[in-house]
Amino acid sequence: MQNKDLISTLAVPIRQAFEAVGIDAALGQLKASDRPDLADFQCNGVLAAAKAVKKNPRELATAVLESLGEQVLYDSVDIAGPGFINIKVSESALQQRINTLATAEMLGANSVEQQRSVIIDFGGPNVAKPMHVGHLRSSIIGECLKRLFRFCGDEVIGDAHFGDWGFQMGLLIVALEDKLPNSPYHNANFTGEYPSESPVTIAELEQLYPEAATEAKQNETFRDRARKATAELQAGRAGYLALWRHFVAVSKIALQRDFSALEVTFDLWNGESDADALVADMVAELKQSGLAVPDQGAIVIHVAKEKDKRQLPPLLLVSSEGSSMYGTTDLATILQRRRDNDFDLCLYCVDQRQADHFTQVFRASYLAGYAQEGQLEHIANGTVNGSDGKPFKTRAGGVLKLGDLIQMAREKAENRLKQAGLGAELSEQEFIATANMVASAALKFAELSNHRTTSYVFDLDRFMSFEGKTGPYMLYQAVRIKSLLRRAAEKGLAAAEIEIKESSERELALTLDAFASAVNVAYSKRAPNFLADHAYRLAQSFSKFYSTCQIVGLDDAAVTASRLGLADVTLKQLEQCLALLGISTPEKM
Ligand code: ARG
Repeated sequence: MQNKDLISTLAVPIRQAFEAVGIDAALGQLKASDRPDLADFQCNGVLAAAKAVKKNPRELATAVLESLGEQVLYDSVDIAGPGFINIKVSESALQQRINTLATAEMLGANSVEQQRSVIIDFGGPNVAKPMHVGHLRSSIIGECLKRLFRFCGDEVIGDAHFGDWGFQMGLLIVALEDKLPNSPYHNANFTGEYPSESPVTIAELEQLYPEAATEAKQNETFRDRARKATAELQAGRAGYLALWRHFVAVSKIALQRDFSALEVTFDLWNGESDADALVADMVAELKQSGLAVPDQGAIVIHVAKEKDKRQLPPLLLVSSEGSSMYGTTDLATILQRRRDNDFDLCLYCVDQRQADHFTQVFRASYLAGYAQEGQLEHIANGTVNGSDGKPFKTRAGGVLKLGDLIQMAREKAENRLKQAGLGAELSEQEFIATANMVASAALKFAELSNHRTTSYVFDLDRFMSFEGKTGPYMLYQAVRIKSLLRRAAEKGLAAAEIEIKESSERELALTLDAFASAVNVAYSKRAPNFLADHAYRLAQSFSKFYSTCQIVGLDDAAVTASRLGLADVTLKQLEQCLALLGISTPEKM
């Protein structure tokens, strides 16, 4: 029986009893108990039901219990306080659940009832701009959601949505023109073949961009030239396109290196430019339908609603120079995605400071009928702050490049491992690989253990500690179970049917059962922190079990086999949960 988690299974008789006494069965839901010392689960529904039917809640609860009668699923059922129902699961039900879970493919979690096709737009890399500490969040959250949705049975496509088409391209083109006055790329009359080698390295590009951005702010002529170059690029000017291809290619190599260090991968690496082919028709159609209207030389879509607390500016569709804007490509990308990978849901994992942009784009697409209300979601994230509470800056006051940050984390991980006396028996190569895993786990767990909208302080020392709620602690616990299982296997000991006897075994079993709820909540709220919380709780429950229950060297072989079974399923679920967070575990440490 019981493929479902205990919360679902144990609620069935409660709901039947609710119905039997004439109250709304939907209120008969369980949650984990607030007082684990008294009960495993509780039902608070009688209180709401009593209010609805104007009865005394305690009396109603008594009637529910009477109707419930004896239940094999429950060890005890009591009424607490004004009418809460407290439930302790029976040993047999818990045991059955845990043995089913141990061999279940999803280790206790459930797949979605209706599979959807989902696109996750995350990472948000840009041409010529190195990723910085801010990109860490969108990349890590998006990667986790991609894995989680896929685990739950949805069909998921992750798309980097490369920022390769806006005003910043024009800026780079004119900035380079000033540096290389005789370049063929800028010569409109040039008819030969453009060089295959990029005229700029990524390092030069990364330097050029901020200089050009500053110049454009101060110098109107420069800004106008950049605007014009953007429009000409988008209109297909050959030299600009050739140059732009170099920008894209050299940027991509650098970005891929950072993503791969974080084990972040994309199914599609489409860019804003890929939606360009759809822009002309889209704009024409939007004009014709009357949604897109002229406004001081530009073309906009009005998206403000009467009930808005704050006036939302219109979406800028075509600039007065005739260029596509950030919102234009986002709108056209929705059409492109519809055409290429029609979706039920599209999640945009992007900084919450872009909330207005997404409200504009989503409203415009709903108005235009490009998506149905609710199919587009901005999965916003907060900022990574310095100890001053402001977005993190380096000591010199600049933004910290993601590549540098990863390097710092890797070095720290090597030091920490050495200090803790870990990894001494690993080869040089294995040691570095392990340190890299520790570094990535530290960054990811620190990120994902916060709710995504919470801003947090970047504190590498804390992230990298082997104690507390950290990535290194999680890896250490996983490795500890692996080595226990290895030692047992060397002695010829194998896992078998799990029997729950000790209280720490019971607690561990209940924690394993709660994986389903953690997955559900993380999925429905698009909030990885529920998975991180579960992983941490699981590691702690295991630790308690391991310190109170001897496993190897007992006289009773059945107890050893049962405990090995518990250790085995704990490891599987822990590794699965960490894998959903995007974290891999080493074999040894
Ligand atoms: N490239 C953008 C940035 O750095 C983020 C892109 C987010 N995705 C999107 N579809 N707009 O701000």
